[in-house]
Amino acid sequence: NNPPWPAYRGYHEYSFAHATMGVRLPTILGKAIEDTIRTLNEQSSEEKIIDLVQCIERMDVLMTDLSGNAKLRPIIDDGEADVALWNKEIAKYFQGKDFMNAPWLFAEAYKYRRLHEAFSVSKFWTDYDVFYRQKCDTFSRSSDAVFELSMRFAEPFAQNNKLSEAEKLEAERHMFLELTQVCLWGNSTDLSLLINMTEDQIKSLQSTGGDHLAATEKNILGNHLGQLWETVRDLRGKTGGRIDFVLDNAGFELYCDCVYADFLIQSGLANQVRFHGKRFAWFVSDVTKKDWEWLLNTMVYGHLFPKATEQERESLRRLGERWKNYEREGKWVYEQHPFWCTGYTFWDLHNEAPDLFLHLSRSDLVFFKGDLNHRKLTYDCAAPASTPFDVAIGPMASAAGAPKVCSLRTIKSDVVVGLESDELAEKLDNEEEGWKISGKYAVVLLSEGRPG
Ligand code: F6P
Ligand code: MG
Repeated sequence: NNPPWPAYRGYHEYSFAHATMGVRLPTILGKAIEDTIRTLNEQSSEEKIIDLVQCIERMDVLMTDLSGNAKLRPIIDDGEADVALWNKEIAKYFQGKDFMNAPWLFAEAYKYRRLHEAFSVSKFWTDYDVFYRQKCDTFSRSSDAVFELSMRFAEPFAQNNKLSEAEKLEAERHMFLELTQVCLWGNSTDLSLLINMTEDQIKSLQSTGGDHLAATEKNILGNHLGQLWETVRDLRGKTGGRIDFVLDNAGFELYCDCVYADFLIQSGLANQVRFHGKRFAWFVSDVTKKDWEWLLNTMVYGHLFPKATEQERESLRRLGERWKNYEREGKWVYEQHPFWCTGYTFWDLHNEAPDLFLHLSRSDLVFFKGDLNHRKLTYDCAAPASTPFDVAIGPMASAAGAPKVCSLRTIKSDVVVGLESDELAEKLDNEEEGWKISGKYAVVLLSEGRPG
């Protein structure tokens, strides 16, 4: 059940795995410790303080393990739903492996689980999210793009009645393609790579105007946008249209996902959207239930943008109210299956989480957002760039019941598949250093799935 290509590992110096395991992860952990110390300094209760100091001590041990390249030990049984999955995988495949010689994808996920464990075994701090401040703060610094979208989309989407049916469909196609790109490029601002972004850097990454989107389409190296539109267009009236999003990052990316999902509902292309988030802090900026609630509530009730005009604030409120209504009506559903926070790739999803696979197989289309989900879909291995997407994702395309899958991903790590030729990747290798980690390029790749 494995692909024929080797998975990236921390000791592969040519790969982004090396810099991530050696430098990025300790930096991220250092910042997590700083955040916790800040919280500690705000406490007054002795019990809570002592408990939190112990969390920090466990994080220090993790730092020593990570920088000293220790062997991967089992996860302590903290009573959480994913412990058995973690320890089964460690026992089966990674006995005696360390942070550098275990597959990068696993070792990196393991680090986030150990970070969670530092808190999950505590008394008062089981749900503490070391990245929460950062996630909220980055959204509050994204005002330009946030209001650009809210001012445009607060008003419900309506077709001009003077148009013929064919013209209406064409207008809808344009809107779909534009918003797919908004949703795609929303992924370029995850926090794990851009820890110290300035406001201007955020702005340039987030500009969403139409001209800009026409220009960025040429950076979509594997581009199934055309097929994607045909697939979604045909959902209406045919199947009842359930679309799922396996989410990536909180804040601005989630906001873009919601703008897109809102359009899918309003246009009648989908009747229901299911969002899949993480159960605890994951790869710095991934969406948790708290991030989800924070976004919707801050849009409606928050005072996050003191410089905004009343009209801008009102547009954000209206959008937030509509989204909260979707939730009340069951048109939007937020879920968090434990499998999403394990070290397994999605090649194992049907075996290790058959209930989740069955659940997804009932969806008409499952979007996987972002780089990490793409690595998990493709086993994070050195497949040639011309490998067709449905080959690269193995059982998620070929197992009986595999749903239609679309990966919307800005490229931030080594694995690149679904390109028309290997030469295109080779050319970029020669001409543009760092093209695989900059987030400048992207893929929109679709697999047709296999009916059960
Ligand atoms: O560090 C691994 C990684 O998957 C990178 O490839 C990427 O920079 C980051 O984590 C997360 O990206 P995303 O939020 O798009 O999954
Ligand atoms: Mg992420």
